[in-house]
Amino acid sequence: MLSLVVLISGGGSNLRVLLEAAQDAEFPARVIAVGADRDAEGFEHAEEFGIPTFSVALSNFPSREAWGEALLEQIAVWKPDLVVLSGFMKLLPPAVVEALSPNLINTHPAYLPEFPGAHGVRDAINAGVDQSGASVIVVDNGVDSGPIIAQQRVAVLPGDTEHSLHDRIKIVERELLVQSVLDIANGHINLKELSLA
Ligand code: GRF
Repeated sequence: MLSLVVLISGGGSNLRVLLEAAQDAEFPARVIAVGADRDAEGFEHAEEFGIPTFSVALSNFPSREAWGEALLEQIAVWKPDLVVLSGFMKLLPPAVVEALSPNLINTHPAYLPEFPGAHGVRDAINAGVDQSGASVIVVDNGVDSGPIIAQQRVAVLPGDTEHSLHDRIKIVERELLVQSVLDIANGHINLKELSLA
């Protein structure tokens, strides 16, 4: 059974699909704790499923590095097989990425390497493209630049706003995330090999 710590910042809808998937006894992964950089709204999903939460706010620390160490300590308590960044809106310091790598994955609401960064959906709308997408990647020390585990195109429709496009992308993002976790748990995807390729 693959154990997961999921880090969020917002509503946690991606987290929720992992919690729901794990209700199936056959699903080979379990969320064992949920962390955030704030008192995230998405904690309510964890609470509903009886999963412990922890919060480590950057503003409580003198530096990003000190914050990263504290976050890492909280994650280490759970000894997870995999850490999933799912709508976690803070850049992790390099020491944290190195400590967790390659067992650290992220979801992104664009078809990487297109539109990396915090505003992937807005950037796609502003660029006027007719398709964007969703990606699941291994986290490295760049911004959304790690090896791609899975990705899928999503059409940008006439009249789409950032909100409407993001809603459709998130549907695909959730499916890709569950499938990626399944593939990692089953050994169909080897994160170490992917990171060395
Ligand atoms: C996802 O699209 C994620 O990739 C992005 O923020 C969204 C998180 O949504 N960076 P939620 O918190 O899982 O609902």
